Amino acid sequence: MSKKICVITTSLHGGSNSEALADAFIRGAVEAGASVQKIGLADKRIEFCRGCLICQKTQKCVIHDDVYDMIAHIKAADVLVFASPVYFYSVSGQMKTLLDRLNPMFPSEYAFREVYLLLASAEKDETAAEGSIKDIEGFVSCFDQVELKGVLHAGGVSEGKDIMERPDILGKAYRMGKAV
Ligand SMILES: Cc1cc2nc3c(=O)[nH]c(=O)nc-3n(C[C@H](O)[C@H](O)[C@H](O)COP(=O)(O)O)c2cc1C
Repeated sequence: MSKKICVITTSLHGGSNSEALADAFIRGAVEAGASVQKIGLADKRIEFCRGCLICQKTQKCVIHDDVYDMIAHIKAADVLVFASPVYFYSVSGQMKTLLDRLNPMFPSEYAFREVYLLLASAEKDETAAEGSIKDIEGFVSCFDQVELKGVLHAGGVSEGKDIMERPDILGKAYRMGKAV
């Protein structure tokens, strides 16, 4: 049976570098026969987690915004892929806000077993990705049976579409998607 992949792009501007990585990953995954759903946060209304923890009893969030529908798709996927710009050596605030809002999944049934992280940063050095990798590792470690399966970091991309001059890294994203 083909794998169900949910790809979440978290950059909010057009022509995003991390979104281009996600699109290359998706091309590979689709070619390999996966069914892919792409969700972009740019047009979503997402509030901060209020920390009330009611979701730990009800498995539902008290906030009725766009995360409500997203959780249904996220829970049903076999594989989750997050694409984020590096912001102050962490994942984007909008990605972190989404991760916090996924807390209703913690006590519930969920299908996903694999997580991938695709990152874009202005700094070229691999160390620029370390904080963001820690961020996703923290999330993954809270979900039994879930593994951080892959991380791809495109360093040295700053202006929108810089990534288009980097067929090497786009090729890596494509092959990563194809291998899922
Ligand atoms: C608020 C903000 C913080 C940033 N912090 C970093 C950083 O800590 N390290 C870095 O290398 N690049 C940093 N950048 C640059 C972005 O990571 C870079 O432009 C990236 O390619 C943007 O990805 P996107 O096009 O997918 O949004 C920052 C950019 C913004 C807007």
